[in-house]
Amino acid sequence: MSTPVKRNILLNPGPATTTDTVKYSQVVPDICPREKEFCMLMDDIRNKLVRVVKGDERYTSILFASSGSGAVEACISSVVLEGKKILIINNGAYGKRMIETARCYYDEDRIIAYEIPYGDYPDVGKISSMLSDNEDIAVVFVVYHETTTGMLNPVREITRLAHEKNIDVIVDAMSAYAGVPIDVSREEYDYLISSSNKCIQGMAGISFVICRKDKLEQLDRNERRNLYFNLWDQYRYFEETGQMRYTPPVQIAYALNQALNEFFEETGEMRYKRYTESWETLIAGLRKLNFQLLLPVDQQSKLLTAVIDPQDANYKFEEMHDYLYERGYTIYPGKGAKKDTFRIANIGAINKGDIESFLSVLGEYLESFNIRV
Ligand SMILES: Cc1ncc(COP(=O)(O)O)c(C=O)c1O
Repeated sequence: MSTPVKRNILLNPGPATTTDTVKYSQVVPDICPREKEFCMLMDDIRNKLVRVVKGDERYTSILFASSGSGAVEACISSVVLEGKKILIINNGAYGKRMIETARCYYDEDRIIAYEIPYGDYPDVGKISSMLSDNEDIAVVFVVYHETTTGMLNPVREITRLAHEKNIDVIVDAMSAYAGVPIDVSREEYDYLISSSNKCIQGMAGISFVICRKDKLEQLDRNERRNLYFNLWDQYRYFEETGQMRYTPPVQIAYALNQALNEFFEETGEMRYKRYTESWETLIAGLRKLNFQLLLPVDQQSKLLTAVIDPQDANYKFEEMHDYLYERGYTIYPGKGAKKDTFRIANIGAINKGDIESFLSVLGEYLESFNIRV
């Protein structure tokens, strides 16, 4: 048995706390990633990534060596067919980033944005009218779990509407994949994106897209706007050689494989149950301390909670952060929500006992700094 590694409770929304078995799985003999042995590992990972979201034979997965934003940029820049437009749903920092990303590749008249304050719930009727009013829209981009606010967006409804009009859907499921039950075969997302370091509980460094194979096939004839992040080229190379086109993060791949094995051992249902129990413990404890939450409970992901800042002159986020950090808990600042907030995620290899200990340290902080919530 390897020496236990100091355990930090990361309550930021990823990179998340990992198990020691995931950490130690990176300690492997050096290997050239062009060897058959490594290709077999990649193949295994690709299949498991699809299985996590119950993808059937219509789906495949494509990996990149990058943070999550890489796979999002790969989708945005690769899948809009020539002359067509993209509709981006923006109710948080990650919707906004996608508008900025799209602007790097497309003229302004090809980008249509549905924008509302961070913390407001998307109006599906309005989105439906936007799709009807713009016949050239070929792709909709929506964030599954808007990590800015902790909101679960109505992705299923938006996907259904889009598909009625033959429009493809890119879902940024960065902080939802493996944390909430997703069934791509039933919900029929065309491109679903995530990364190795959030609810799948691996290390940072791999981003991936679960794709409908038939949608990918049509990209063969599309204009090339990118090199490294070309989805079709990466797919074709994986299919022909079993490898990434460029150097993969070897050790991160071993860790991802171990994290996937641990996901299947725990099962998706039990992971969701563990996360839900942590979240229920969290919000009950926050309420006891008089904190208010940004979102109504029925819009919440149960993965991350945006908490309204105390209106007390003694409160400073940095001081609270530092007090908690010194005691082993990392929390996260707000990110432009319609009210000032800080954020607490409950993803990763943690449980409700960790949340209980966190809440008691948070209570101590409020008392020692004389803060009234
Ligand atoms: C919904 C969402 N999209 C995109 C990203 C960007 O991922 P990364 O920081 O790994 O590039 C994040 C990161 O937290 C996210 O939560």
